[in-house]
Amino acid sequence: MESGKRASFTSKFGFVMAAASSAIGLGNLWRFPYLAAQYGGGTFLAVYILLATTFGYALMITEIAIGRKTGLSPMKAFSSLDKRFGFCGALGAVVPIIITPYYGVIGGWVVKYVAVYLTGQGAAAAGDGFFGGFITSAWEPLFYFLLFDLFSGVVVFLGVEKGVERASKAMMPILLLLTVFVAIFAATRPGAWDGVVYYFKPDFSKVTGKAVLAALGQLFYSLSLAMGVMITYGSYMKKSDDMNGSVCQIEFYDTLVAVLAGLMIIPSVYVFSGGSESAMSAGPGLMFITLPKVFNAMTMGTLVGGAFFFLTFFAAITSHISLTETIVSNLMDCFRWSRAKASAVVVAFVMLMGVPSSLGFGLWSRCAPLGMDLLTFFDFVSNSVLMPILGFATCAFVGYVLTPQAVIEEIEAGGRPYAHKKFYAFLVKYVAPIGIVAILISSVASGLGFLSF
Ligand code: TRP
Repeated sequence: MESGKRASFTSKFGFVMAAASSAIGLGNLWRFPYLAAQYGGGTFLAVYILLATTFGYALMITEIAIGRKTGLSPMKAFSSLDKRFGFCGALGAVVPIIITPYYGVIGGWVVKYVAVYLTGQGAAAAGDGFFGGFITSAWEPLFYFLLFDLFSGVVVFLGVEKGVERASKAMMPILLLLTVFVAIFAATRPGAWDGVVYYFKPDFSKVTGKAVLAALGQLFYSLSLAMGVMITYGSYMKKSDDMNGSVCQIEFYDTLVAVLAGLMIIPSVYVFSGGSESAMSAGPGLMFITLPKVFNAMTMGTLVGGAFFFLTFFAAITSHISLTETIVSNLMDCFRWSRAKASAVVVAFVMLMGVPSSLGFGLWSRCAPLGMDLLTFFDFVSNSVLMPILGFATCAFVGYVLTPQAVIEEIEAGGRPYAHKKFYAFLVKYVAPIGIVAILISSVASGLGFLSF
């Protein structure tokens, strides 16, 4: 990202759509449903929505305001405001380095399923053990991952993201419609009602530290927070734009897609597994195990399934391109590398680093740090450790060094009065930083067995 004169979005709508297309991706379609299934359905959903409207809102508006105020890339934005907080920029640059490789591995799984449906094997994919057979095989997932990564690498190298993004903008509304359609179909299957209830009915006695941490990590991940991306978007926003309204809209769209994806998947797991504990906690594979069964139960299921995975591929590839682009532009910014050099290094690095995540389900399954497969481990380190730490640092910085007032002035820069000043200041000074520390401590403690809640 050049830090000189900045282009800006031509309208609020353009800004919201651009930020929403970074936010909406595998996080909503793949990650949210499996976490919700694993951590108590309605309980997880309620905690997630509570955190999204408080922590998520505060952090997103903060990042966008920092970006627009400084007009700089994340690496430079923090240090330009206060030298001591320059580490926030650096920490934010580390997160996409961890996420991009394993995101590509999941992207590869999606490509595989597109291929499966294109070749008319939808019925086979609905069989038990199909997905397990695929991810435990040595070379196949690796092959699809490399294909996926190469594709986004070429796009970043050629600098033609805009073309892909435009295609994706046309695809996203279709994806949304298809999601609504599949969600209704899945939720109205005989026997699905119990699953629908499980998904929407919270049981607060079941809230654990681990579940809240998972919801917090999911929030950062899904909204593309705590890695500087929203700072970048903010730096391209016009002063006259309505920042508060934009943030509310981005959050709304992102959460809507996640909730629908959950509705598409969770009641169906219930139907097909009788609500068994092990099926509900299938983890990263859930979407790939459950959806083919749903499509198989539909008339024209192969067509619908093919269309669904194809559209998911678009959601995934645009997010992967933008993750790759984040690393590339950080390298160009920091070391003055050319785009060609930075893209080549990043693609090669991502290929190398994705290999353990891909093999972790098969050949390397005995390597299981903290009892997790390697993909889940990288996912845990970035979303449940680094992002909360950076989220905390950002709130502490704004709450006590920069002052919430400075952010509020930036929000109001376009002349629109900001109605939630007190709420924002309270969130960023107390609720978010204290909450994040409490969540981290309680989850570490319960992980180590000190606490049993
Ligand atoms: N929010 C994206 C998703 O839900 C993932 C993501 C996190 C992302 N940070 C990002 C995408 C930065 C693009 C850029 O899938």
